[in-house]
Amino acid sequence: MFITTFANSAVYWTIRTFIRAGPLIWISGSLGSLIDIIYAFLSKALVNSQKQVDDIVKDALDNGAGNGKTAVITGANSGIGYETAKAIGRAGYHTILACRNPKLGEEAVNRLKAETGTDNFELMVLDLASFASIRKFAGEFKKRHQSLSLLVNNAGVFMCPYMTTVEGIEMQFGTNHVGHFLLTNKLLDVIKRSGPARIINISSIASYINARFDKEMVKDKRAYSRLFAYCNAKLSNVMFTAALARRLEGTEVTTNSLHPGFISTNIFAHIGLWQRLQNLLFINPTQGALTSIYLALSPKVNGVSGKYFVRCQTTHAHPSASSVDEQEELWKFTEELIAKHSEQTSYGTF
Ligand SMILES: NC(=O)c1ccc[n+]([C@@H]2O[C@H](COP(=O)([O-])OP(=O)(O)OC[C@H]3O[C@@H](n4cnc5c(N)ncnc54)[C@H](OP(=O)(O)O)[C@@H]3O)[C@@H](O)[C@H]2O)c1
Repeated sequence: MFITTFANSAVYWTIRTFIRAGPLIWISGSLGSLIDIIYAFLSKALVNSQKQVDDIVKDALDNGAGNGKTAVITGANSGIGYETAKAIGRAGYHTILACRNPKLGEEAVNRLKAETGTDNFELMVLDLASFASIRKFAGEFKKRHQSLSLLVNNAGVFMCPYMTTVEGIEMQFGTNHVGHFLLTNKLLDVIKRSGPARIINISSIASYINARFDKEMVKDKRAYSRLFAYCNAKLSNVMFTAALARRLEGTEVTTNSLHPGFISTNIFAHIGLWQRLQNLLFINPTQGALTSIYLALSPKVNGVSGKYFVRCQTTHAHPSASSVDEQEELWKFTEELIAKHSEQTSYGTF
């Protein structure tokens, strides 16, 4: 506990301090990431994450936390999402895996049923890179389910070459931020009716690398950088969380974001070197899902909202997470982007 607090402060306070100090962010960011990777490497041997997950699930089961409740996890067919879905399903939630690939999604549902010995898992197809798919998902969900107590915005793409979503938005921003923004807003009425409810946004340590959210990187293909576009999207996840938490004040819905650690998953498919190193250096998906599972299930975060978590503890987020003006600018920009790229349908913006 103390060591984690110390490591988090050392890494995140330092990076945050230098974010707006030009190239110094590179030194502190690289140093911070290195400490984070070393910490993860050591924790592979020292921390029994499976036991921690089991304890959280047992507590939730004992309290009947998941009884009669429904959860949605995006990108749950692999990696962190799969492990998060497993724990939430084990805790008794009816758990919907929102996946873009029906075959992979179906296989994951079958594996989860077999591994947990429960029937608590369902597949619903969702492609976050398509507004039509998001709108269809939200409509279908509301037809099939009366409530939604947990939404885990987990799916992500990392450092892909320049490509666009179905509607023509830069892919990393379009999937990681805009897709989840639209999904959340489409589901917000049912989530609010289901309170107490939680919305969890998976961000990354990469959220610290850009000094500010950069619109040009989204609007102008020439400004595209694989790494900085990912950082832009992950910073947006943290800013969206803070802006959403403000809008949810006075309701029974909380929202928080998190960095899961460095985890060996398919996310590194676009960068060969990392893919080769990841099994050696990075933690496994169960360890990587711990903070998501904690935020989804633990009573310790009842009523906690708008915060940024690392290793199950709140820590210093990017300064833009404290700037209402910057968050509102991002919110407006995202709404305008959705409106501009939406077909002229009766849906309107949302
Ligand atoms: N691994 C790390 O070290 C790390 C560090 C920081 C943050 N994160 C974040 O953690 C989250 C989970 O990633 P992971 O590491 O578990 O990687 P992963 O195993 O590759 O999982 C990513 C999931 O997102 C899904 N996805 C991608 N594009 C989608 C779309 N358009 N619509 C719906 N689903 C889509 C993928 O589906 P397919 O299987 O069909 O591709 C996959 O299920 C991501 O948000 C990532 O940015 C990871």
